[in-house]
Amino acid sequence: MQPEGPSSLLIRGGDIVTADETYTADILCEGETIAAIGEDLPAPDGAEVIDATGKYVFPGFVDPHVHIHLPFMGTHAKDDYASGSRAALAGGTTTLIEMVCPARDDEPLDALELWMGKAAGVSACDYSFHMGVTRFDAGVEAQLREIVADEGITSFKVFLAYKGAFGISDAELYGTLKLAAELGVTVTAHCENAELIAGLQAELLAAGKTGPEWHEPSRPAAVEAEGCHHLMSFAEFTGASVYVVHTSNRPAVENILAARERGVDAKIEVVVPHLLLDKSYAERPGFEGAKYVMSPPLRDRGQGEFLWRALADGSIDTVATDHAPFDFEAQKRRLGEGDFTKIPNGIPGVEDRVNLLYTHGVAAGRIDLNTFVRAASTEAAKTFGLYPKKGAIAAGADADLVVYDPDYRGTISAVTQQMNVDYSAYEGWEICGRPALVTVRGEVAARDGVFVGTPGRGRLLRRRPVA
Ligand code: URP
Ligand code: ZN
Ligand code: ZN
Repeated sequence: MQPEGPSSLLIRGGDIVTADETYTADILCEGETIAAIGEDLPAPDGAEVIDATGKYVFPGFVDPHVHIHLPFMGTHAKDDYASGSRAALAGGTTTLIEMVCPARDDEPLDALELWMGKAAGVSACDYSFHMGVTRFDAGVEAQLREIVADEGITSFKVFLAYKGAFGISDAELYGTLKLAAELGVTVTAHCENAELIAGLQAELLAAGKTGPEWHEPSRPAAVEAEGCHHLMSFAEFTGASVYVVHTSNRPAVENILAARERGVDAKIEVVVPHLLLDKSYAERPGFEGAKYVMSPPLRDRGQGEFLWRALADGSIDTVATDHAPFDFEAQKRRLGEGDFTKIPNGIPGVEDRVNLLYTHGVAAGRIDLNTFVRAASTEAAKTFGLYPKKGAIAAGADADLVVYDPDYRGTISAVTQQMNVDYSAYEGWEICGRPALVTVRGEVAARDGVFVGTPGRGRLLRRRPVA
């Protein structure tokens, strides 16, 4: 039996921060939605009253790029929706958008059903999906039309990388973008030139360069910049709206900005590892560098500072995680020792995104509070058709709220994290600030970094095309 739904919640006296403004007020939540915002709102009978004085109140954070069910590189990512959604909520993320990643021969409808089945009745937070297009032909096209029209999944995902796995040909890319333009859906894209990577990998391995430190040289910034330019050309020809995921370096960003100048509707995502880590982490001895192998790879330190500036000036739209958790010993080491091309690519982070972005962005003076909310919540909600139910604090919006304590001080560790993975890429890092309270549609789901919500209460968010 489902526990009783939420009744009333009054959040008193917090500093409300949205993408556009900051002000002090009370928020009354009735049932699943925000009922009123104002000064000195009376508490209805039986309401839980939260004193948010001295704290921020943010809209629930939206992570538009996560992997929960991910069969990849001979193994599976470690989280399921129970652990992944718990970790997300503990860290202030109330909505996840996961990539459905079918194998090339899989049928899209079957894949979507599989991915939906992993989340339904298990996820504690709300969720939606980007539909991966890993093959494009007439049969796939018909299924994609159905997925958009009937299932409410109104964004696609393509990979220009991962030759022989998720990667698609230029002809398939063209077909996918043409269809997306017709249907008004946004195409999210992993942009790295697969052929260049394959060539560089073979050369490095032949030269005996087998450790994780060779991952970055096998896919340097120019390889990603080419992928971005490539996608921009196809978007320009087809008129599709595109969203480039995990953009890691200046030439890549500049190619997208140049396309924007030409009128291409292109959004840019950055992920936390590219903001905070650099390639020296992947050079750590004893194979520890494998913990930091992801694609596109971690870059020079200067690239991270460039990304921060581009985030602050609005060139970059969103901050996601690309959460892709693989255990260090049993997966990364077992599969990849002796051949860096076989290390499962990915870094976990769904639990830490908000606190790291607040600590190293807001508290460090790199971005302001409104940019923080825009990049970690509102912009993703707008881009993917969830706004204003999600990503907003307004009467009628879903009561997804984060009461944030900027005075909290703590340390990230694999020992205390709720993600189901045996390491943290940020082990021992200090954080300034943490969610004191997190609500999903009016129900308290986390308190002081601990999940207290209802497993399985998360709802599939069916969306309409907005591109
Ligand atoms: O290294 C990464 N990024 N792993 C997850 C799959 C992807 O490319 O997003
Ligand atoms: Zn990717
Ligand atoms: Zn990804």
